Amino acid sequence: MSDFVNGFWAWYVTVIVVASIAYCVWVLWSNGKVKFNPGNTTGHVWDGDLQEMNNPLPKWWVGLFWITIVFAIGYAFLYPTLGTSGGQLGWTSAGQHAKEGEKLKALIAPVYEKFKGMSVEELAKDPKAQLIGDRLYQNFCSQCHGADARGGKSFPNLTDSDWLGDGSAAHIKNTIANGRMGVMPPMAAAVGTSDDVRNVAEYVLSLSGSASDPVKAALGKEKFAACAACHGADGKGNPAVGAPNLTDNIWLHGFGADFIVKMINEGKTNVMPAQQSKLTEDQLHVLTGYVWGLSHPSK
Ligand code: HEC
Ligand code: HEC
Repeated sequence: MSDFVNGFWAWYVTVIVVASIAYCVWVLWSNGKVKFNPGNTTGHVWDGDLQEMNNPLPKWWVGLFWITIVFAIGYAFLYPTLGTSGGQLGWTSAGQHAKEGEKLKALIAPVYEKFKGMSVEELAKDPKAQLIGDRLYQNFCSQCHGADARGGKSFPNLTDSDWLGDGSAAHIKNTIANGRMGVMPPMAAAVGTSDDVRNVAEYVLSLSGSASDPVKAALGKEKFAACAACHGADGKGNPAVGAPNLTDNIWLHGFGADFIVKMINEGKTNVMPAQQSKLTEDQLHVLTGYVWGLSHPSK
C-alpha cells in the first residue's frame, strides 16, 4: 500500500477491507443465534409443498468461514494492506521480483560459462551462441529494430555497414548497455534565410548523387559550413558525435529536399533506451557477438 501516489487510496482500501471483514463477522454472529426448529419456515412455499426453512447453516461451513476471517486478519497485518504500513514481513512485490531475478541469473549462469572467454568474432561463428543471441535479440531489440534487424524509419538497420557510431564491437556493446541519444539541434538560424536552407538541402542531396537542383546546390555549398562541425566538411559524418554520413544513400529519418529542410529547421533527437538492467553481463557479451555478426557474415 506504500506505493500509491497519495495517501487517499491507502485509506480507501483500508476502509473497504476493515468494513468487509466486520460485515462478515456480523453476518456469521447474527446467524449463529438462529436455532434449529422443524417448524421454522419463512412462509414461502413453491410447487405446492416445497417450503423455505430458516435453519442455522451447517457447522463445518460456518467454521470454514471463521477460518477465512482469521486468515484475512493475519494477512492484513503481515502483508501491505492497512494504511501506509508495509506489513510486518516487510514483503514487497519489487523485492520478490528482484530476488527471483537473482535466482534466475544464477540458474542461467552455467549456460553462458563457455561463451565468457570467447571473442566477439568467435561468438559470431558459434551456432549455439548465435541461437541464444537471436532469442535475446527477439526479446529485447526486435520491437524497435525489427525481427530481421533491418530497422525502419528512425531505427537504424543493424545488418549493414552504415553506422551512427564507429560500428566496432565496443560501440555495439556500449550502445546496448547504456543506450544512446542522437541530437541534431535546429540549424535554420545558423544557415540563414529560408532560401539558404533550401539551397543547403539541395547541396546535401547532391552529396549522395541524388537528383538535385544544380544552381541551388552550388549556392548551398558555402552554407554547408554550418553543418561541417558535425557532418564533416565532406559530409561523410562523424561517429564521435553520431552525425551520419550524408554522402551515401542510406537515410535514417527520411529522404528528399523537403525532409532535409525539415531536419535543418527542427533538428532531431533520437533516443535508444539503455538495456543494461535487463541483461546480465554474460548475456550482453553474447548479444554483442550476435549483433556484430549481423553485419559481418562469416560466409
Ligand atoms: C525503444 C527502441 C529501441 C530498443 C528496444 C533498442 N533500440 Fe537500438 N536503437 C534505437 C534507436 C532509436 C537508435 C538510434 C539512436 C540514435 O539516433 O543515435 C538505436 C541505435 C542502436 C545501435 C547503434 C546503431 C549505429 O548505427 O551506430 C545499436 C548497435 C543498437 N541500437 C542495438 C540494439 C540492440 C542490440 C538492442 C536490444 C538489446 C536495441 N538496440 C534495442 C532504438 C531501440
Ligand atoms: C551539432 C551537430 C550537428 C550539426 C551542426 C548538424 N547536424 Fe545533421 N545530424 C546530427 C546528428 C547527431 C544526426 C543524427 C540524429 C540521430 O541520431 O538520429 C543528424 C542527422 C541529419 C540528417 C538525417 C540523416 C538521415 O540519414 O536521415 C540530415 C539530413 C542532416 N543531419 C543534415 C544536416 C544539415 C544540412 C546540417 C547543417 C545545416 C546539419 N545536419 C547540422 C548532428 C548535426
